[in-house]
Amino acid sequence: MNFQGRDIISIKDFSKNEINFILKNAEKMVEYAKGKNYIDILKGKILSSLFFEPSTRTRLSFESSMNRLGGRVIGFADPTATSQKKGESLADTIRMADSYSDVIVIRHPQEGAARLAAEFAEAPVLNAGDGAGRHPTQCLLDLFTIKSEKKKIEGKNIVLLGDLKYGRTVHSLAYALSLYGANLTFVSPDSLKMPTEVLNECEELGAQPRNTSNLEKSIKNADVLYVTRIQKERFPDAEEYNQVVGAYKVDKNLLKNSRRDLVIMHPLPRVTEINPEIDKTTHALYFKQAFNGVPVRMALLSLVLGGKK
Ligand code: CP
Repeated sequence: MNFQGRDIISIKDFSKNEINFILKNAEKMVEYAKGKNYIDILKGKILSSLFFEPSTRTRLSFESSMNRLGGRVIGFADPTATSQKKGESLADTIRMADSYSDVIVIRHPQEGAARLAAEFAEAPVLNAGDGAGRHPTQCLLDLFTIKSEKKKIEGKNIVLLGDLKYGRTVHSLAYALSLYGANLTFVSPDSLKMPTEVLNECEELGAQPRNTSNLEKSIKNADVLYVTRIQKERFPDAEEYNQVVGAYKVDKNLLKNSRRDLVIMHPLPRVTEINPEIDKTTHALYFKQAFNGVPVRMALLSLVLGGKK
């Protein structure tokens, strides 16, 4: 399977076989991601890290990944310190990054920005999140985490909770979990339901997701509870946000009837939706999940840049 030069824009661009191949490569990267061993297969390569929106995990784990592979990183985390401030277009910014580097990672507030960037770049473009659109590398690390923890994804009962309307991570994940034949339940406040477009995609893959607002009942038999933050920055109207803020909270009381092996995931950052009392329980998987961003992104960078071990 050859990924050299390929853009990573949406998880929908990948078959299940291709996803499995990426996850297998990620497994091999774990020891290097932990710094237990050293590898320099991307020595001499440069990554452009273009973050037009705030990020902690995606940016740092991409940068860590490139460094762990022996490559180097240029870029910005604050677009107001770039010539965009003087009116430069996204296309021209991408043309510049393309001429200075071998691979481009972009996060942007506008849906479709990564796909647009890929049209202007010769180098592979990796979508690090585009507005309320897609977040394919997060999706891959989520799949990697579930597979590592539960051995398989097929047939697992997975509950996606929270802001399913604006949360880009759950849009990509719902699609991918359907591809694997997981049993999906979507739990959200009424105004933040999964978009019809995503529901249709899941159904086309044969999934039959249940929609509910009853969290307690839906987690009784769950293998995985995937929690998301209410995406305050995506609400067009502050009043709409005020009506749903604090609508759900995961705490020990909620988990009293759940399975002992239930794992709780969250793409992070969390705000109030998971009580910190959960952090020390065996259910909490979100910090390990965040670490998994490194081996998965190492695998992606080495594959699209043709790095050989
Ligand atoms: N999960 C995720 O995308 O986190 P950041 O916004 O911190 O990158």
